[in-house]
Amino acid sequence: MDLILRHASLPDGRRDIDIGISGERIAAVAPRLAAQGAIEIDCQGDLVCPPFVDAHFHLDATLSYGLPRVNASGTLLEGIALWGELKPQLTQDALVQRALAYCDWAVARGLLAIRSHVDVCDPRLLAVEALLHVRERVRDRIDLQLVAFPQDGLLRAPGALDNLRRALDMGVDVVGGIPHGERTMDEGARAVRILCELAAARGLRVDMHCDESDDPLSRHIETLAFETQRLGLQGRVAGSHLTSMHSMDNYYVSKLLPLMREAGVAAIANPLINITLQGRHDSYPKRRGMTRVPELLAAGIEVAFGHDCVLDPWYSLGSADMLEVAHMGLHVAQMTSQAAMAQCFALVTEAPARILGLDGYGIAPGCYADLVRLDAPSPIDAIRLRAARRLVLRRGRVLAEAAPARVTLHTDGGVRDIDFRLSPGAG
Ligand code: FE2
Repeated sequence: MDLILRHASLPDGRRDIDIGISGERIAAVAPRLAAQGAIEIDCQGDLVCPPFVDAHFHLDATLSYGLPRVNASGTLLEGIALWGELKPQLTQDALVQRALAYCDWAVARGLLAIRSHVDVCDPRLLAVEALLHVRERVRDRIDLQLVAFPQDGLLRAPGALDNLRRALDMGVDVVGGIPHGERTMDEGARAVRILCELAAARGLRVDMHCDESDDPLSRHIETLAFETQRLGLQGRVAGSHLTSMHSMDNYYVSKLLPLMREAGVAAIANPLINITLQGRHDSYPKRRGMTRVPELLAAGIEVAFGHDCVLDPWYSLGSADMLEVAHMGLHVAQMTSQAAMAQCFALVTEAPARILGLDGYGIAPGCYADLVRLDAPSPIDAIRLRAARRLVLRRGRVLAEAAPARVTLHTDGGVRDIDFRLSPGAG
């Protein structure tokens, strides 16, 4: 073995497990491996997991905070207007530099797969060219999947359909959309049909911004599920945001969830952004706006949590930490049972890996040796502590290392280090 990680805890609850790595892949996962590793690391009971995966991000806008000004109201509509002001000023070099800087943050956080939407409403397709370049530049460390996203509306923005086709011709991976951004419900439905037909004809996946609205009658997810089934796209389609579902009538949702399940459509919620941007027309009570995550899961629908934005026109915070995303999702969805808290960890790891269709993901012999050692003993503790990434491995190679979070206390006349794990016996 080239490397053995010893005494690891795994996300499924197994403890004191050794993970043997040969070359780029995991060779063995078992207690007390007899083999010797050229390098051996004692994980001391820390959680070792496959990398974090972000199923929904905007790499073309990230780290542009303050350009050309900050979002004063913090609203979605001002964010879209601000992006419109910024777009004419974008240069390819600046786009590439910001995206690469974010990818460095991602690696440091053990986030090694990102599905990024890229706005195709600029006829120059500057952002598409920039992110295709970035996809190649980071290939050795991050699986970057790009979505052709007509931010200003496929039918509403002049030339958007033509631009989107060109973006796909250039190598963008996934067909995007924004049906609630079209002029009418009918046009939204027509956009969904056109985009799904395009994806079916080209053998591509679909991921649409869908019903990112507090309007309970925004029901494009119904059309998306219908077209998915009609065109045989089951398992390859995701609806992102789906915030209108928060406000929908319960009776209608009882019909909608089985439709989504039948069609194999996944749901991607973006907790940090949904809790920030939705409910802005409400006085009190204010709606949370996030889609119905526990109910979607209970219906057997694939769900993931995405980050969506970091330091961009829509969101002024964030640092590529999917544990922060899971932490917010857990709270907003009130997923506070032991099982539900652990499931929140899966919503930023294995669930988005399935939605992206990642190859060789997981902790089992034959999977890629893409692993993260966290400064926490379990998935729930990892979320609680937003734990440091002690070690980030990609294809068996160390990409990042960090010291554990410790504080030196000067109390009771002495000096001692503490950490924030529950002391043995305290539980
Ligand atoms: Fe988004």
